Amino acid sequence: MGGAASLQLRPFRPQDAETSLALFRDCVHRVNSRDYMPDQIAAWASRTIDLETWRARFENRFAYVATEDGCIVGFTDMTREGHLDRLFVSADHQGRGIAGGLVRRLLKDAIDHSIEEITTDASITAKPFFERMGFSVVREQSVECRGVWITNYRMLRAVPAEAS
Ligand SMILES: CC(C)(COP(=O)(O)OP(=O)(O)OC[C@H]1O[C@@H](n2cnc3c(N)ncnc32)[C@H](O)[C@@H]1OP(=O)(O)O)[C@@H](O)C(=O)NCCC(=O)NCCS
Repeated sequence: MGGAASLQLRPFRPQDAETSLALFRDCVHRVNSRDYMPDQIAAWASRTIDLETWRARFENRFAYVATEDGCIVGFTDMTREGHLDRLFVSADHQGRGIAGGLVRRLLKDAIDHSIEEITTDASITAKPFFERMGFSVVREQSVECRGVWITNYRMLRAVPAEAS
């Protein structure tokens, strides 16, 4: 991760769940809202998301938070099979290389664990970012989220045998 020296990356901890959920909700409302309708945003960042379920989803995964001056400004998680599930950067810290740093960390984990490819279901908003990170679109898809249909993209990136 480039930029300010105070930006750091560390493994996700269970006690990060509440802050990451708040960051996610705020990011969906303030960033993804440029690409999705209000009913889609409301369903995606629903108030009904259960904190314990959200926390449990990080378990047994490669999961990291980016921090600045100790505050969480981004987070990501990827399954042991190489599915990148969540990647969100604070609406106030967009475009500073934070997501790039998080994805590069997951790429290193994938190399270290002989995971051959990383998949993700990228939002319309995140698709150009993932393309920049070497992912390609496999298909556009429509997925149901709490009764509302949302467009996203199944994307794929091959993992090199060794870091270049
Ligand atoms: C997509 C997202 C995670 C990117 O985070 P970010 O920290 O702003 O991205 P970075 O600054 O690390 O960008 C890395 C590279 O991607 C490029 N990039 C990022 N967003 C881009 C966009 N919308 N269009 C074109 N390029 C983009 C950057 O220019 C940068 O390129 P560079 O290496 O040549 O400088 C962020 O916009 C976000 O949180 N979006 C909303 C949540 C979301 O949709 N998450 C995906 C889960 S479905």
